[in-house]
Amino acid sequence: MVCNLLQGKKGVIFGALNEKSIAWKVAEKAFDQGAEFILSNAPAAIRFGDTEKLAEACKTFVITADATDVADLEKVFSGAMERYGKIDFVLHSIGMSPNVRKGIPYDEINYDFYQKTLDISALSFHKMLQVARKLDAINDWGSVIALSYVAAQRTLYGYNDMADAKALIESIARSFGYIYGRDKKIRINTISQSPTYTTAGSGVKGFDSLVDFTERMSPLGNATAEECADYCITLFSDLTRKVTMQNLYHDGGFSSMGMSARAMHQYDKSFRPCD
Ligand SMILES: NC(=O)c1ccc[n+]([C@@H]2O[C@H](COP(=O)([O-])OP(=O)(O)OC[C@H]3O[C@@H](n4cnc5c(N)ncnc54)[C@H](O)[C@@H]3O)[C@@H](O)[C@H]2O)c1
Repeated sequence: MVCNLLQGKKGVIFGALNEKSIAWKVAEKAFDQGAEFILSNAPAAIRFGDTEKLAEACKTFVITADATDVADLEKVFSGAMERYGKIDFVLHSIGMSPNVRKGIPYDEINYDFYQKTLDISALSFHKMLQVARKLDAINDWGSVIALSYVAAQRTLYGYNDMADAKALIESIARSFGYIYGRDKKIRINTISQSPTYTTAGSGVKGFDSLVDFTERMSPLGNATAEECADYCITLFSDLTRKVTMQNLYHDGGFSSMGMSARAMHQYDKSFRPCD
């Protein structure tokens, strides 16, 4: 077990709602590895979730922010700077689609909801980066990560407008990664994670089938939230200083597969016609 990989590093972690959240696992592991950080989440999440409990365990505090609101984000980054001076890492672990929540299919989506999906799940990442850069909040060689999903590249039934949000967030990581890298040596990456049982994940239509399918298809099996957190720690550490502008698959090999023996075995059981 590697120790103190993040000793002396300071950061901000967005999106820890409850103990299933990917951000929750990242916070626990970052704390174990010696990092100090502020937690942030949306007002409703602070009311109904367990973020305060996590803050207590990690000896820190929460700054409430709607990630679509630039003034709120300014509050978070200024708060972090007041406490730590400049910071070293940021985790964007935020996603929400009202169309997914309401079960509206992609070919009938509500456009107001669609804009909300994109604002919450993707533009908020740009807003975060813009605010951090304006405040000069991140140290040189700092590291910023957002979470993504393979639906940015491939169509997966039921993922709806979140697929578009993920395509956008990966593009933002590349576009801002160039600017922030050139000016400040700050690296920006997205991690494309396996389907994971969290509050956001479980809201996707047919999620159980999706989890089973990707498990069968992946030579290493689906990656858990904890394993994702381990990967985040390496990317926040100094061991990955030249990794930037990448979408990094953390999916047990799923994204490189076409068909596996385990999936074919299951498929062979039925050749009933389907849609
Ligand atoms: N669970 C999966 O299967 C999976 C797979 C790949 C990628 N991801 C991504 O991982 C990230 C984290 O999701 P999770 O699976 O841990 O689920 P989660 O539900 O635990 O986390 C989502 C978080 O987004 C926050 N959020 C929503 N609207 C917000 C707003 N306006 N302002 C600030 N915060 C807001 C929620 O409060 C919550 O904490 C998301 O980007 C998600 O798309 C999840």
